[in-house]
Parts: sequence; C-alpha cells; structure tokens
Amino acid sequence: MDQVVRWGIIGAGGIARRRTIPALNLISNAQVTAVMDKNEQVLEELREEFGIEYGYTQEAQLLENPDVDAVYIASPVAFHKDQARRVLDAGKHLLIEKPVAMDGRETKELSDYAAGKGLCAGVGMLMRFHGGHMRIKELLREGILGDIVSCRAQLTCWFPKMEGNWRQIKAISGGGALMDMGIHCIDLLRYLLDDEVEKVCGMADHRTFDYEVEDSVSAVLRMHKGAACYIDANFNIPDDAAHCPLEIYGTKGSIIASGTIGQDGKGEILLTLSDSDKGYESSQVRSESGGAQKLDFEHVNMYARQLEEFSNCILNSLPPRTPLTDAVKTMRVVDAIYRSSSEERTVYLKENAW
Ligand SMILES: NC(=O)c1ccc[n+]([C@@H]2O[C@H](COP(=O)([O-])OP(=O)(O)OC[C@H]3O[C@@H](n4cnc5c(N)ncnc54)[C@H](O)[C@@H]3O)[C@@H](O)[C@H]2O)c1
Repeated sequence: MDQVVRWGIIGAGGIARRRTIPALNLISNAQVTAVMDKNEQVLEELREEFGIEYGYTQEAQLLENPDVDAVYIASPVAFHKDQARRVLDAGKHLLIEKPVAMDGRETKELSDYAAGKGLCAGVGMLMRFHGGHMRIKELLREGILGDIVSCRAQLTCWFPKMEGNWRQIKAISGGGALMDMGIHCIDLLRYLLDDEVEKVCGMADHRTFDYEVEDSVSAVLRMHKGAACYIDANFNIPDDAAHCPLEIYGTKGSIIASGTIGQDGKGEILLTLSDSDKGYESSQVRSESGGAQKLDFEHVNMYARQLEEFSNCILNSLPPRTPLTDAVKTMRVVDAIYRSSSEERTVYLKENAW
C-alpha cells in the first residue's frame, strides 16, 4: 500500500456526506476512492460534489474493487454487522460508525470475527478526538483532581417523530437516545477515567414522542475505581437549549465543560483546583467563580483527526484508538442500562455470561 489509504464508504448519504468525506479531503494520508449507497441520486450528487471515482449501489461492487484499501460504514445500524463481516472477508480494513451493532452480543460476535484477520478494525467514537477531551484525559492521568468521585456526561438533540425514519424504528436502530447519543457519554467517561463500569441503574423512557424507541435515558454507572457517573441523553431537548455538560469532580477539584460533547470540536472547559488538606468549614463558602480557570485546548476537526489517526494505524500496523474489543465494553453497558430500566433494578455487568 502507498502512504495514502484509499477509502470506500458504505452508506454515504448522511454523516459521511456531511462530515466524513469533507474530513477525508482535509488530510494527506487518505483519500475517498469509492462510495456505495442504496440511493442512486445521493450517489450521483456525491460523485459530482466531491469528484469521487467510483459509485455503487451494491456493497459487493465496492468490496471487489482492488483500489479500495479500507471501508468506513455509516449505514443504519441493523446493516452494520453483516456489512462489516463482508468488509473483513474482502480483506479490507474497517472503521465502523457507532453503535457497532444492534446489541452487545452482536458487537462481541463481530469483534471475535475480526480478531486474527490481521486487519485494522475499529469504531468511530468521535468524542475521544475532541481537543478539550484530550487535554482533560492528560490532566486526569496526572491525577490533578485527586480521587474521582462523581461525573456527568450529557448529549441531546431535538428529534420529533418523522415517519419512516430508521432511528425511530427499533428493528433498524436497536434503540433510541441511548443507542444513538448516550453511547458517546458512556464511551467518553470510560475513556477519560480509564476505568470500567461495574454496575448500572438506568431508566429509558418515552416521555415526549410516540415513536418505538426511547426519547429519554438516564443512568448512574458505578465504576470499578468507585466513581459514580451520571449519563443522560435525550431526543426531546431543543437544540438551542442544549449545553451537553461534561462534569468531573474529584477530591482535589473539578472540571466542568460545556458544549464539548458534540460534533464541532468547540465548547468551554473550566478547571477548579482546591486544597483538599484543609479541614471542614461549616460556612461552606463558594466564591462566584470558585477560582475556576479556563482551560485552553486545540479546536480541531474531530472527524479529520480520527480518520488521519486511523489511516496512520493502517499504514503502520498500529492498533486503533477504539478497537472493536473496546466497543464491546461500551455496548455491554448499553445492554445493562436497557435491562436495568425494564427490570427496574441495579444490573451488574458481570451478569452478562458471554
Ligand atoms: N459519530 C458521529 O458523529 C455520528 C453522527 C451521525 C451518525 N452517526 C452514525 O452513522 C450511522 C449512519 O447515520 P446517519 O445519520 O448518517 O444516517 P442517514 O440516514 O442520514 O444516512 C444513512 C445513509 O445510508 C444509506 N443506506 C440505507 N440503507 C443502506 C444499506 N443497506 N447499505 C448502504 N447504505 C444504506 C442511506 O441511503 C443514507 O444515505 C449510524 O450508525 C449513526 O449512529 C455517527
């Protein structure tokens, strides 16, 4: 392979068209060679808009093309697993959009299938590439907040009923706000804290819209090292009312981010450090700003950063930032939250026998 990865895209008309293809055009170690979509009009428009060499309506055509080294899958979730297996069978590297599959078991099956193929196989967990999140991860690794005791991560959008929309049909999406958005919050907290979930208590509800999947989800995740993490995701909060907070509290301070969980790589992050050696103060005085300092971070195109790094992994036989084995861990948490909600009890991750 040259020093450029030639990408093919399956399911090219949504996020791929809005973000991934433009991002691939910004980086030097990758290019878009072929697109495949069920929608012929989308294909024509894409090829014209981006000057893409090959356009197909059948996956097999794209997978037979020797000019394609790696495939990015961004089709509706129900198609992911089979498409991904065919990509691996064709000997192509694989980057698949979240959620990898319909549930944890399917994700594990795919991860096992990929193991031993000698290919780079990972999932697009974009929040890991946000410049601010990368800065937070560094600070947490240095132990700046002491023992992490409590966290919150939220992602929301306004998503009213749209007849025939696949995200609102359980058999195609696998679920609603949790599968689509909450999954980012779970993955991000696992990544930032470098910790795994031990047990969960969750509620997935139909509050506002009468489609099949939940429009609201909240859950408390107990991590192995002890932190209690609250995640929430909603399809029923207006976009202009959303702040998508990320909050991390430890025994030596806190990090409070606003608007970093999202697609644009921006937002604001405040760091507050405190003297944890001091004694109890009955007045519990908190200054207005709390002595918070604004954290600088690089505003990057997260899609470009993710694709550049993934392409580099392919070119240099390195493991991707989020391999499929890692995606299995997040999907197990998703499964546990749904189970906790339906059985109205705390669910331990170890209850999953597989
Ligand atoms: N990481 C992110 O920022 C992000 C953002 C949005 C979506 N996503 C993920 O990307 C995936 C796609 O979501 P979307 O919003 O782009 O959906 P979308 O409905 O906007 O686009 C999906 C595209 O797939 C095509 N398609 C439908 N069935 C197909 C099939 N069987 N084979 C090939 N193509 C098919 C459709 O014609 C359409 O062009 C989902 O897994 C979603 O969760 C990720």
